[in-house]
This record gives sequence, structure tokens and C-alpha cells, in this order.
Amino acid sequence: MKNPPGQKKLKAAVIGMPIKQSLSPVMHAHWFEMAGLSGDYSAIEVAPNDLETQVKAFQKNAFSGFNITVPHKTEIVPFLDKLAPSARQIGAVNTVKISEEGILTGFNTDGIGFLKNLNEQASGWPNDKPVLVLGAGGAARAIATALLNTGVPMIMLCNRTREKTQSLADDIGRGRITVVDWDERNHAVAGAGLVVNTTVLGMVGQKKLSLDLSGATADTVIYDIVYKPLNTDLLTAARNRGLKTVDGLGMLVHQGAAAFKIWFDIDARYDDALRSKLLAALGEKPSVSGEVGL
Ligand code: ATR
Repeated sequence: MKNPPGQKKLKAAVIGMPIKQSLSPVMHAHWFEMAGLSGDYSAIEVAPNDLETQVKAFQKNAFSGFNITVPHKTEIVPFLDKLAPSARQIGAVNTVKISEEGILTGFNTDGIGFLKNLNEQASGWPNDKPVLVLGAGGAARAIATALLNTGVPMIMLCNRTREKTQSLADDIGRGRITVVDWDERNHAVAGAGLVVNTTVLGMVGQKKLSLDLSGATADTVIYDIVYKPLNTDLLTAARNRGLKTVDGLGMLVHQGAAAFKIWFDIDARYDDALRSKLLAALGEKPSVSGEVGL
């Protein structure tokens, strides 16, 4: 794809609140560079009351599209013209495409990013066993939907607030989600082929996630979607037990790559150069491929 005649730069952005921590500008700048395109991807802090005004500004200024992060992923829906099946099924939008005519279509690439990263970092993960998903927020919704779509037999959904777990299970479960009390999470590890942390626990500035992995079997895969820090205590504990682990950086990259494809029809890659840039932006030391999730 070339920059269209008459348009100096391709434009996209991410909106959220807060937003200054976002790694997306680094990622998309890398992909513009790789594709030889002149483009600009900015991170814009938008308060809930300013959402509609911001969306109109994107349309008026010929943006190709934008990403949406916390807290706007469901609040954006009324301002869109159409929802792609991914967004409809998950009930939230993380990517909007703006057509040349200004039509706004909502997509959700979080589930795709989650699965692509899982298949890359832990190919052959035991998809015939139940999955333990910790958390019942927006990320859990996208992840559980994606996992159910792959045909996993059962998801054990475990969250601090039980009502939220039950309501998510009722909403998206298709009879394949069992609700597990937060206090029972350690026991649930024993039956799981894959354990996914979608809570904020373990993230910089948050409390630690306490999870006993002693019940895990040798083939259990431990996936933490937290990427700051990249090597969370959960992943370190899993590695110390010799378990296969998946970190959260690849999910971020692959959801972004899927958005780049939607806007510009270009395959964006998670290459070593991008990984180095992201690690630097995170303040992490560059490390050997495989150790941090490639
Ligand atoms: P996201 O969109 O990233 O999923 P979210 O919707 O705010 O973010 O969800 C945050 C998740 O972290 C929720 O599952 C939340 O549990 P509650 O539903 O009980 O709020 C979980 N979480 C946050 N703080 C927690 C804590 N101290 N202990 C356990 N879970 C916690």
C-alpha cells in the first residue's frame, strides 16, 4: 500500500484514560517504517464525556481508524455505524475502522491477539483440557470468548467478585463456563491444561497474585497477560516448576497487528527489532528470544 495521492500521512490513534503508558505508538511507528509508509499514530487521552467529539474529529481529519482502551471499550459502541462479528460476540470494541466515506466499523482484536500469542509461545498447548481463567473484566470477556471459539471443553472462570463471574458466564458461556470461587483458585489449577491471569494482579503498582501452582501437571501452560513487568511473579514461579509460560507482550503486539491489517491491509510482524523497541520502552533488559516470549 502506498500513501494515497493527496494524503501526506496515514493517521491512526489510541484513545483511553489514562493513556500515557501506552506502547501502541511505538509499535505502529515501527510498522509504518517497515512498510515504507508515512504515518502517524498518537495516544490521546479522552474523558468519557469527550468520546463523541473525539470520534467526530477523527472522521473529519481523515483518520484510517483508532484503537480504544480502558475505559471506553463498550461506551464507544453507540457512536459506531456497524459492528463486525468479533465485536458483537465479545460485546466490546478495541479497534475502529473509518472508511473513506466516514463509516465507522467496530472490531475486537483482543481475542485474536491472545490466541496468536498462545499458539506462538506454547504451540501444542493442551486444548482438550479445561482452562482456568482468573478475572471477569473486559480482558477476560474477550479471552474466554476466543477460547470457547477454539473448542476448549470447559472454562473454569474465577474472579474475586462472584456476581461478575456468574454474569459473564451467563452472557458468553454457551454452557461451557463453570464458576469457581476466588478462594478455590488453587484447587482449580489441578484440573487445568492452561491457566490465564487476566486480572490486574501482579502488574506494577498492583497487589501480587497469590496462586499456588503445586497442583499443575507437567503439561500445564501458564499465561499472564500482564506485561509490565514482563516477567511477573506468576511466570517466574511457573518457570521454576519447569512449566511452559506465555507472557503478555505478544498479546498486545498481535492485537495491534490485527488492527494495522484492518486499517491498512498490511501484515504487521512481531520481529526482533520491534521486540527490542518495546522492551526498551518498558524499561526491560533485552533478553534472549524465548525467555521473554518470542
Ligand atoms: P480489564 O479490562 O483489563 O479486564 P477490568 O475490567 O477492570 O480490566 O478487570 C480487572 C480484573 O482484575 C477484574 O476481574 C477484577 O476483579 P473484580 O471483578 O472483583 O473487581 C480483578 N481485580 C482487580 N483487583 C483485584 C484484587 N485486589 N484481587 C482480585 N482481583 C482483582
